[in-house]
Amino acid sequence: MLDIIKTRRSIRKFEDREVEKDKLKAILQGALTAPSSRGKRPWNLIAVTEKEQFNQLSQCREVGSSFLADASACIVIVGDPTVTDVWIEDASIIATILLLEAHGQGLGACWCQVRNRETKDGNSSSDFVKSVLGIPAQYSVECIIGMGYPGEEKQPYDEDELPYDKIRYGRW
Ligand SMILES: Cc1cc2nc3c(=O)[nH]c(=O)nc-3n(C[C@H](O)[C@H](O)[C@H](O)COP(=O)(O)O)c2cc1C
Repeated sequence: MLDIIKTRRSIRKFEDREVEKDKLKAILQGALTAPSSRGKRPWNLIAVTEKEQFNQLSQCREVGSSFLADASACIVIVGDPTVTDVWIEDASIIATILLLEAHGQGLGACWCQVRNRETKDGNSSSDFVKSVLGIPAQYSVECIIGMGYPGEEKQPYDEDELPYDKIRYGRW
């Protein structure tokens, strides 16, 4: 696990190769174990595997979402703010787990922020994704994890260059 954490990087270029259904299913299944506040699981995951839908989702932002067009699978993380006031934290945790699982399965993946972002026309990115995927009004879209077989190689962070000054012991 530590090795998976240490070697993960955001991958935005992908091979033109399908992610096996079983692999995707295993990743989704693993994500369902994510911790959530009071165990409320205020999230839903939509696994998207159609190229046409990737093209649509890649337009949810003016910049920052274009890499989704070349993905082989997108997992849309949909939160329900009516369930808990900490749905953003819960959605972010499951998104992070998905990133790590994808990497652990030999895939590359990257987070595309949707909540609090806008399309190039100035509309809400969350509303845009909701209309593309038919998501009911009460929900909000946190992010989309685009994944696929890596089409770029990124070196893990150099352990000697990590920001150790961010860590304090005992008190500030
Ligand atoms: C909350 C969050 C939002 C992000 N949003 C985007 C995004 O919209 N588009 C994108 O290409 N990358 C996005 N990223 C990926 C970051 O750019 C990336 O994690 C950062 O540059 C560090 O690189 P690394 O993941 O390779 O360590 C996001 C990451 C996080 C955690």
